[in-house]
Amino acid sequence: MTGAAVAEGSARILVPKGVFFNSEMRLCRDFSVLALKAALAGKKVRAVDATAGTGVRGIRYSKEAGGAVGELFLVDVNRRAAAATRRNLKLNGVKGKVANNAFQRFACSDAARKGFGFIELDPFGSPVPFLHDAARLSRDGTILSVTATDAAVLCGAHPKACLKNYQAKPLNACCCHEVGARILLGKIARTASEFNFGIAPLFTLSHKHYFKAFVALSEGAERAVESVRELGFVAHCSKCLETVYRKGVANALPQKCAACGESPEYAGPLWLGRIQDGALLAKILSIDRGRDKGVEKTASALLAEARLPPLYFELHLMAKRLSVGAVKPESVCRMLERKGFACAGTHFRHNSVKTDAPKSEVENAVAKLAAKGRRAKRARRL
Ligand SMILES: C[S@@+](CC[C@H](N)C(=O)[O-])C[C@H]1O[C@@H](n2cnc3c(N)ncnc32)[C@H](O)[C@@H]1O
Repeated sequence: MTGAAVAEGSARILVPKGVFFNSEMRLCRDFSVLALKAALAGKKVRAVDATAGTGVRGIRYSKEAGGAVGELFLVDVNRRAAAATRRNLKLNGVKGKVANNAFQRFACSDAARKGFGFIELDPFGSPVPFLHDAARLSRDGTILSVTATDAAVLCGAHPKACLKNYQAKPLNACCCHEVGARILLGKIARTASEFNFGIAPLFTLSHKHYFKAFVALSEGAERAVESVRELGFVAHCSKCLETVYRKGVANALPQKCAACGESPEYAGPLWLGRIQDGALLAKILSIDRGRDKGVEKTASALLAEARLPPLYFELHLMAKRLSVGAVKPESVCRMLERKGFACAGTHFRHNSVKTDAPKSEVENAVAKLAAKGRRAKRARRL
């Protein structure tokens, strides 16, 4: 078996022809490894990499997550991928059982029926076809690690595909990335609840063409009901940019925009609960401190927005609507913080802010800062 050799983290991986490996997903893998280490902190679990490819994720979790991985299974439907995974396990001195099978079939095997404490789902496109089996193989405390590379679908570029796969309406407008991530979490919550689990997102990341979420499951009817109660809908007015969200059923949302009377666009059902666990992100930062610039930057960004309510204000859209020049998110945050509001940028979208201030306060800050910018420009010209 020939192929390219790749070094990533503490793993050395051979990538034969016909086996999938994307070096652009490195940040996703680096972050996931640290998240598992932080989340399990000394606990050992039975783990499965359900869509292994070269086996890189399973191998890195095993080598780098602080001994969190006990018995390890690696599954791939592609014969070449299963062979590559076997070879890479050997190359890295990692013990693991490889199944050349569809995960959905593997899930019916005796080995799988014992359940898992950690399940890695990193398929092509949508993870939805894997969620039922992942939930069925979960136990109290299981961590689901879910990648969705169908971000375009979740962000509203293909609304019919989103309806078919996630039974949800996306938003092809302001906040579409966070709305997409929350539609994914909503689908995970609905599937988990069918198997009597509630969910608690540990981190949610939007990067390039994909979303990645780590979600901890807790068993019990009450937990499942509490989780489903975190689902709701969003209404966004493209005329005045007013965005409102409500947990519960769709008719709790206004039929007309309360600010301008226009008919808003709706999105959902989606998860309106917490999407980041601040304590876990702080732990990732303390484990990683200074070792990996990408992980540090990402964890810091997620931590800064962890305490803030859902959705964000896109400042370029707001400035355009107010017919003023561009303003910096940091300046808007400083101004809002001086008034006692919480505010931060968001990794979901550049030039945007998350805040607990109402839209009118953000508009005020944008207008004032733009006017200040105009005055400074004029003074420089004189
Ligand atoms: C995106 S790749 C995995 C990449 C790998 N996790 C990594 O980080 O490099 C998806 C893999 O899922 C496999 N696959 C697709 N459908 C599957 C199924 N139903 N069960 C198991 N594996 C599947 C493909 O053969 C492919 O190797």
